[in-house]
Amino acid sequence: MTTARFHKLTELDAAQLDGKRVLIRADLNVPQDAAGAITDDSRIRAALAGIRHALAAGAAVMVTSHLGRPAEGALTARDSLAPVAARLAELLQRPVPLRRNWGGGIALAPGQLVMLENCRGNPGEKDNDPALARAMAALCDVYVNDAFGSAHRAEASTEGVARYAPLACAGPLMAAELDALTLALADARRPLVAIVAGSKVSTKLTVLDALADKVDLLIVGGGIANTFLLAQGKPIGASLAEPALLPEARRIMAKMAARGASVPLPLDVVCAKRFAADAAASVKDVDAVAADDLILDIGPDSALALARAMQTAGTIVWNGPLGVFEFPAFAGGTRVLARAIAESPAFSIAGGGDTVAAINAFGIGDRIDYISTAGGAFLEFLEGKTLPAVAALERRFGA
Ligand code: 3PG
Repeated sequence: MTTARFHKLTELDAAQLDGKRVLIRADLNVPQDAAGAITDDSRIRAALAGIRHALAAGAAVMVTSHLGRPAEGALTARDSLAPVAARLAELLQRPVPLRRNWGGGIALAPGQLVMLENCRGNPGEKDNDPALARAMAALCDVYVNDAFGSAHRAEASTEGVARYAPLACAGPLMAAELDALTLALADARRPLVAIVAGSKVSTKLTVLDALADKVDLLIVGGGIANTFLLAQGKPIGASLAEPALLPEARRIMAKMAARGASVPLPLDVVCAKRFAADAAASVKDVDAVAADDLILDIGPDSALALARAMQTAGTIVWNGPLGVFEFPAFAGGTRVLARAIAESPAFSIAGGGDTVAAINAFGIGDRIDYISTAGGAFLEFLEGKTLPAVAALERRFGA
């Protein structure tokens, strides 16, 4: 485990918070349905500890976040944090007024809480405009970054403001996420197993490449596995794959093999003729996939082999479902693997929206050691990249 490299909200003295103005950048970018209703409030719940800590310490608290990717200076009703503020108010059992304009500063008494409207509406947010960052910093005595999910973004509310605020620190969620990921990777108990699944190799190539230098077993799934199967000369029919990336897939497998590590590919698969929940599912040997087949899941023998590997793993890092788990006929592989991870004695860590949805669908959330709230930031951490918002906090350490 690393020692603290940044100030932490929970380690500040009482005098640093009591009566002070605290600006918390959270990641409250929650999924919503077509009517705008929040479909998963995990990120709001995960932000509660930091908000409660600052309020209990007697601070006047402003919390802000982005929601979606709106056009700067042109927020629509759909982009508003209003439903998020309403949900936060329910969870905290107190009003959370939403402030759209904060240009002249926010008048707030100690113990009060407001939410500042979607920070991506502020012109200059995306480009990390120093003038905007300074204006945000001027709102507060203490800036708290608790938005691990946005830590890979160098934006005014995540990176710039941390340069200029009188004091900049990490919130409890940010600190916990970094601790858990560091424990999983830097100090990993071996064998270290990574599961990286998803539709495209291209979006996860850098993480696959980085993990291929570190892990003992690299399990690929979804369209990524199809590309790897194709690279081994297997027939994949009409399945999703990226033929242009076959050399990359081969390079990753060769790199793993050279280290005595492996990329286990499916022995059997579940195929359909159409991508639909009611399509007929047939289990096939991986060599027997027909030209008009779509591979939508791994087969039972493959799932069993992976489940066995989970029993002897020391650490498991999971990002991405193995099949189309939203369709019950093609959920088997992901379900078997999810249960095996839950039952494994390994330290398990999972991240990414689809992965968390699968964990919830199979009801194993309480048996995963750490579930990250992040998607892109989780992957960039796994890649070993510097997260700019974390780097900004680190530069302020000791300052
Ligand atoms: C996420 O959902 O991964 C984070 O909230 C970051 O969102 P972004 O990709 O729009 O920056």
